[in-house]
Amino acid sequence: MRFSPERSFNKSDCTGCGICEKVCPSGVIEIQNGYPFFRIDKCIACGHCGVYCPANCFGFDRVPETEDICSSEKYLKLLEARRSIRYFSTIIPSEEEICNVLSVLSQSPTGVNKQGITVRVVRGAEAVEELLRPVKKLLRILDCTGISFLIGKLTGMSAYLRKLREGRDIIFRGAPVVFFFHVPRSNITGRTDGIIAAATVMHHAVTLGYGTLWNGIAEKLFQLIPSWHSSDTKGTRLTAVLCMGYPEMAPEWKVPPRDYMVKWC
Ligand SMILES: Cc1cc2nc3c(=O)[nH]c(=O)nc-3n(C[C@H](O)[C@H](O)[C@H](O)COP(=O)(O)O)c2cc1C
Repeated sequence: MRFSPERSFNKSDCTGCGICEKVCPSGVIEIQNGYPFFRIDKCIACGHCGVYCPANCFGFDRVPETEDICSSEKYLKLLEARRSIRYFSTIIPSEEEICNVLSVLSQSPTGVNKQGITVRVVRGAEAVEELLRPVKKLLRILDCTGISFLIGKLTGMSAYLRKLREGRDIIFRGAPVVFFFHVPRSNITGRTDGIIAAATVMHHAVTLGYGTLWNGIAEKLFQLIPSWHSSDTKGTRLTAVLCMGYPEMAPEWKVPPRDYMVKWC
């Protein structure tokens, strides 16, 4: 799958314009005798040499026409319509549907194009219930030792813990699908890569009629619950947890705009 400029390059189409050399982020292309020479061992396989090649020497497919790309107005509407979902429908998306939601990961950028994102998918009410089991057990232990009382007081989460104790799933909110986004620990920008990937999936999910919920609580619990870990993700770190499913009810009104700051430096 990984792109190799050397393998894809078709010399007979090359005009020697040198654009590939100019756009290469790693400086691994040199024009020698009118043609690019690739120092392939340092190539990050970003594909930009091919993307900008006027003669399409690397045999890429054409990008969509501008009018087919989502407009700023439509993108803003997507953001206005997206809300965190805390009432999921019990309908379970099929594996094929989930793969379709995740397919945008093939377009998600990663630092120095290292890629390596793994999404562990927990699908179905029973599987999600299974995730909750050790959480409830942990809470029972903390209750017995009185530590949960202290945690509740210190974090302001007493009401949250009480609802959990009452058997309410206020962690996954009845979501039929939970995504755990993992990235290799060795990736220098791994944390950011994983967050971008999860945000990309979140937006794609909304365009397909699903809803999502970022799950900071599950992300924190991951450190405490060994049974959530898997040998598949050894050497990785968790960067985001996203619940997904059909929303049980659609938001009717827009949230008031949020504050942010712009500081000109
Ligand atoms: C990183 C992150 C973690 C979050 N964790 C949780 C969570 O554990 N439980 C929850 O109910 N909402 C969680 N949320 C959702 C936020 O509470 C929500 O985004 C915020 O209230 C704004 O609502 P909106 O997403 O509908 O715009 C999280 C959001 C983010 C960005």
